[in-house]
This record gives sequence, C-alpha cells and structure tokens, in this order.
Amino acid sequence: MFSVQIVNATNLVNKNFVHFKKKIFTGRFCLIFLKKCFFFFCRDNACEKTSYMFLRKELPVRLANTMREVNLLPDKLLSQPSVKLVQKWYMQSFFELLEFENRKPDDPHALNDFLETLIEIRNRHNDVVPTMAQGVIEYKEKFGFDPFVSSNIQYFLDRFYTNRISFRMLINQHTLLFGNDINPAHPKHIGSIDPNCNVAEVVTDAYETAKMVCEQYYSAAPELKIEEFNGTSKAPQKPIQAVYVPSHLFHMLFELFKNAMRATNELHEGSKEGLPLIKAKVTLGKEDLSVKISDRGGGVALRKIDRLFNYTYSTAPTPSLDSKRVPLAGFGHGLPISRLYARYFQGDLKLYSMEGVGTDAVIYLKALSSESFERLPVFNKSAWRHYQGGPGADDWSNPSKEPRDASKYKAKR
Ligand SMILES: Nc1ncnc2c1ncn2[C@@H]1O[C@H](COP(=O)(O)OP(=O)(O)OP(=O)(O)O)[C@@H](O)[C@H]1O
Ligand SMILES: [Mg+2]
Repeated sequence: MFSVQIVNATNLVNKNFVHFKKKIFTGRFCLIFLKKCFFFFCRDNACEKTSYMFLRKELPVRLANTMREVNLLPDKLLSQPSVKLVQKWYMQSFFELLEFENRKPDDPHALNDFLETLIEIRNRHNDVVPTMAQGVIEYKEKFGFDPFVSSNIQYFLDRFYTNRISFRMLINQHTLLFGNDINPAHPKHIGSIDPNCNVAEVVTDAYETAKMVCEQYYSAAPELKIEEFNGTSKAPQKPIQAVYVPSHLFHMLFELFKNAMRATNELHEGSKEGLPLIKAKVTLGKEDLSVKISDRGGGVALRKIDRLFNYTYSTAPTPSLDSKRVPLAGFGHGLPISRLYARYFQGDLKLYSMEGVGTDAVIYLKALSSESFERLPVFNKSAWRHYQGGPGADDWSNPSKEPRDASKYKAKR
C-alpha cells in the first residue's frame, strides 16, 4: 500500500540502529506524504498485502525507537506506577507485532489476524496520554522538578506524543481502509484523510462541541463569528479546503475553543454587556493555510506565554479522572499536544496575546499537500546527548525573581 506514497528517510536515520531483545531493526522510518496517500488511493490501488508488509516492519521500528528513549528518563520517574504501566503496554504491543515478522501475507489468516491485532493495540494505547500525564504529576509531587529534569521531560513528551500520533495515524489508515470500521458518513475519505476537508466546517463542529462542554461549567458560552479569506487568485469565493486529517484539525480547534471560552467566561461572566464574541478567521495563501481563533478573555502576559506550552502548566484545578463530565481545562496538555498535531504535518501553532485584552491563537497548516509530510522524532546520538548534558548557564542577564507588583510601588499623589 505505502510503497508509492512513502519516502525513505535514510539520511535522517542512517546511524539509527535499534537493538531490542536480540532483535535488530534498522530503525529506518518511512515518512508519509499526505498528497501521495491521496493520489495513490484515488487510483483504487489500495492493497492490503502491501500495507501489511510495510506496517509489520514500520510499526515495531517506531515502537522500539520510543521505548529506547523512555529508558533515558530519570530512574525515579521510570519507577512511577503509571509510567511502568505505559512501558508494559508498549512492550506487549511490540511483541504482538513481532509475531508477524515472518508470516507471509499469503498465509490464510495473516491479514485478518494482523487487522485484529492492530485494533487491540490501538485500544490498549487509548489511555497513554492521561496515564503518562499522571506519572509526571506523581513524580513532580514527590520529587519536584529542577530546570534540567523539567526541560528533559518536556523534550521527551513532545517526542513521545508525536511518535504516538504517527503510530495511531498508520494504524487508523490500515483499519479504516481494510477493516469493517468504514465511516458511511464520509465515503470520500481516504482512511482518515479528507481530500477536500472544508476547514470552516471543522471550525464550526469544534466550536459546537466545545460550547456543549463550556455550558456544563458556566451559564453561557460566547458566540462565534467565522470569516474566510482566500488570498490566492484561484476561486476566491470557494470555501477553503485542504487535504488533511479532519480529526487532527478538530482536536486542535476544540482545545483552542475550550481555552478561549474559559478565559472569556472567567473575565466577563455575569457582566451586563454579556460575553464578547470569539472570532475565527480561515485564510489561504500560497504557502500557508491559517486558522486564527481570537478571544477577548483578558490575555496572558508575555513573560508567561512560553510556559503555557509546558505539559504540567495549567491555571485551572486538576480535574478528577473519575468525573463523568468532560473537563474544560486543568491538565495543561491542551496547547502542547495541539501544537504537536500542527507540527506533525509541518505546520505550527502559536499564541499572540495582549495582556488585559485577549488572545489570538493561530494554527498554521501547509497550503500544499505535497509539503505536508510527517515530522518524526529520531532516536540517535543527538537525542541521547540531549538527555545526558546538564542545563547550560544562562548567557544573558536574567532577573532571578518574579517581577514586583507595580501597583505597590506607584507614586503617592
Ligand atoms: N485563550 C487563552 N486566554 C487566556 N489564557 C489562556 C488561553 N489559552 C490558554 N491559556 C492559559 O494557558 C494554560 C494552559 O492551557 P492548556 O490548554 O495547555 O491547558 P489547560 O486548558 O489548563 O488544560 P487542558 O489540558 O484541559 O487543556 C491555561 O490553564 C490558561 O491559563
Ligand atoms: Mg486547555
């Protein structure tokens, strides 16, 4: 299946050999290009056997890479029960995939067994994010974070979750194309990819879903106004479309809307004027397809913007995992994971805020699907070195204290 749509990233990983339990994999990833997926399948060429041959090697390579990196985490973090559980899931899935290493696709049950194994693995890994998050919180509560550990954990989680996004993307492509979980509502989708993804429609869906969550916590949710601006000369009146994975776009937008709704309510709930609108602007240029979500929720000081992308940073109380309500905020994972989704296909997510007024969050995607290829972490010497070195001394002058509260120092009149 993927023989046409993949490109060997040999130059990225040519020194990358993954040794695991006497099995040696050349850890050579094959990067997926959205455009190639699209054209390939449009020609009705999807072949389950080729996909099987590709995935039975590619998936264990990706798992083994991430498992090697987990082992470089601090011992005290590795000994947390939640982290041990995640490691157990990865190990089990790795061994299950190895069962197919020598099974020929013509073996009468191989394809079916493989499909079932993939579904089991996907289900097993459903809770990896909250479980890993739990492990990090447990560690932080017991031992605290020094800046070195904190930056290593941030580095690790970015890579670990990106690997997971890619792993699930591959599994979903196979199970959606060759299994029974085809979605009749979207017959034109190619696996999880929509070749004509209408961006404003996904914005509306994500807004409506976030609004339902918001209304469980506050008496109202802000209204939405959407604008589209097609900056290319081609069909400026047509809705903006992209070759993209709608579930990824939905995930990012849902997180941004929850944040915008929370900030708006915290600042304006009960005010006479009501809640100010949230504005969404979808634009298309030659290189970028951008979606901006703007709120009037009071913004964030410049000094704090970078830390909003830390996995443990949240200004909301930690939600209970047992609660039946979908949490509106509190894990501190919304922004960093959304940024990983955007970066996975070479895009990005940035926040621009004006303290006292509001925040613009912008998702950047590639306008051309030929430029949307996977961005994957590679486990090599540079990655290894990252975990070994200590934090460098700051080479700019830096005040060590939090800034003073300016109101205390105002001149008395
Ligand atoms: N639009 C916004 N306006 C003001 N503050 C924001 C905005 N977006 C994010 N923040 C701040 O950034 C913090 C981190 O956001 P993030 O979405 O990563 O986590 P969270 O919302 O606290 O929890 P969750 O993981 O459930 O999303 C928030 O707690 C909030 O303080
Ligand atoms: Mg959030």
